[in-house]
Amino acid sequence: MAGASRGPAAVPPLPALMRAVAQERYGGPEVLRVIDAPLPEAGPGEVLVRVIAAGVDRGVWHLMTGTPVGVRLGIGLRAPRERVRGREVAGEVVAVGPGVTAFAIGDRVFGAGHASFAEFTRARVDRLAGIPAGVAWEQAAASATSGTTALQAVRLLGLTAAGDPADSVPAAASKSLLPDAAGRRVLVTGAAGGVGSLAVHLLRSAGAHVIGAASPARLEFARTLCDEVVETGGEYGEARLRALAPVDGLVSTSGIRSYRMLCSLLADGGTAVLVGAEGGRGLLGGFERQLLAPLLGSRDGRRLRALTSVETPELLADLGRLLADGRLRVPIHGEYALDATADALRDLQEGRVTGKAIIRIGAEADAADRSPRA
Ligand SMILES: NC(=O)c1ccc[n+]([C@@H]2O[C@H](COP(=O)([O-])OP(=O)(O)OC[C@H]3O[C@@H](n4cnc5c(N)ncnc54)[C@H](OP(=O)(O)O)[C@@H]3O)[C@@H](O)[C@H]2O)c1
Repeated sequence: MAGASRGPAAVPPLPALMRAVAQERYGGPEVLRVIDAPLPEAGPGEVLVRVIAAGVDRGVWHLMTGTPVGVRLGIGLRAPRERVRGREVAGEVVAVGPGVTAFAIGDRVFGAGHASFAEFTRARVDRLAGIPAGVAWEQAAASATSGTTALQAVRLLGLTAAGDPADSVPAAASKSLLPDAAGRRVLVTGAAGGVGSLAVHLLRSAGAHVIGAASPARLEFARTLCDEVVETGGEYGEARLRALAPVDGLVSTSGIRSYRMLCSLLADGGTAVLVGAEGGRGLLGGFERQLLAPLLGSRDGRRLRALTSVETPELLADLGRLLADGRLRVPIHGEYALDATADALRDLQEGRVTGKAIIRIGAEADAADRSPRA
C-alpha cells in the first residue's frame, strides 16, 4: 500500500462480540442503544477494521431517522435493515477478506465503513485508502465522506486563476490536487457545516477568496474560516446574498433552493455546485433539486451541477495528501465517546456542531502490547 503508514502486522486474537451503536426502529437519537453485537466478518473485497475514530456526517442522521422517507425504499421500509450506524471511519486493518491484496493486517486506513459506530467494522477496499504518516486519526475520519464531497465540489466548480481561459480547466485540474483559483470569488453556503467548512478550507488553499454564508448561530465560527461572511435568514438574508453577486463559483450545502436565485448570484461562466440542504419536505426532502439540476444544465452561460459523492480510493488518497501537507485541516467540533453517540447526533440536529464531530472509539495499539496471532 503506497504512501500509507503501517502498524505492526500481528494483532491480538479478535473477540467474538463488540460494542456497537444500534437501533431497532427509525427515530431521533433516543432510538440509539449501545449493544454487544457479533463481530462482523470481512467478505470478498472487504477488510475488517478496528475503529479508532468515526466521523459524524449528515448522512448518518438521515439513515437513523429514515428521512426523507424515500430513502426507506433502499434501507428498509419499517425499520433499518442495517441496525448499526456510522459510515466515516479511521482505524487499523485486523483481518482481510478473500481476494484482498490492496491492504494487509496492521494498515492504517480511512474511508467509508459499513457501520462504523462500533469497535469493528467491515469496509469495502474500494471505499478505503491508507492514512499517510503524520495525519491524525480524527482528521482522517472526519474527512472521509465530508472531505471527498467537498473535494469533488471544489473540482466541479472548474475554477481557474483570474485571467486564465476557462478551457484550460480539465488539463490544470487533472495535474494537481486542487485548481488554481487565485483571484476568484466563491460563495459557500452552510460554511460552518461539515462539507461547507471543508470546502472553505480547500478553496482557500486553492487561492480563492471565500465568502461563507451561515445562519446567525454559526456566523462567528464561519468568520474564523472564511475571508468574508454573510449572515443568512431573517428579513434581509436574501438581500444580503444578492448584494454579493456576481461570484465566480458557489458551493451550496445549505439554504438557497431556487435555481433562479443560484443563477442570479453567478458571474457569466460561473458554476454553482449543488451538494444538499437540510429542512426540505416531501418524499425526497428537497433532493429533487439535485435530480433536476442536470436537466436545467446551464442558464445563460451559468452552470448548475449536482453532486452525488462517492468515496473512491483515488479521492481518499488525494485527501490524504492534502491532509498531510496541511492544505486541508478539518475543524473538529468535539470528540464523543461511543456511549455518547446519541449526544453527538442530537448536537448535530440542534445546530450545535460546527465543523465535524468525532466518535472516538479505540486507542492506537502499541506494538509492545500486541501478542502474535494464535
Ligand atoms: N450530494 C452529496 O453527495 C452529499 C454528500 C454529503 C452531504 N450531502 C448533503 O449536503 C448537506 C450538507 O451536509 P453537511 O454534512 O455539511 O451537513 P451539516 O454539517 O449537518 O449542515 C450543513 C449546514 O446546514 C444547516 N443546518 C444544519 N442543521 C440544520 C437543520 N436541522 N435544518 C436546516 N439547516 C440545518 C447549517 O447551515 P446554516 O448556517 O445555513 O444554518 C449547517 O451548517 C446535507 O443536506 C447533506 O445531506 C450531500
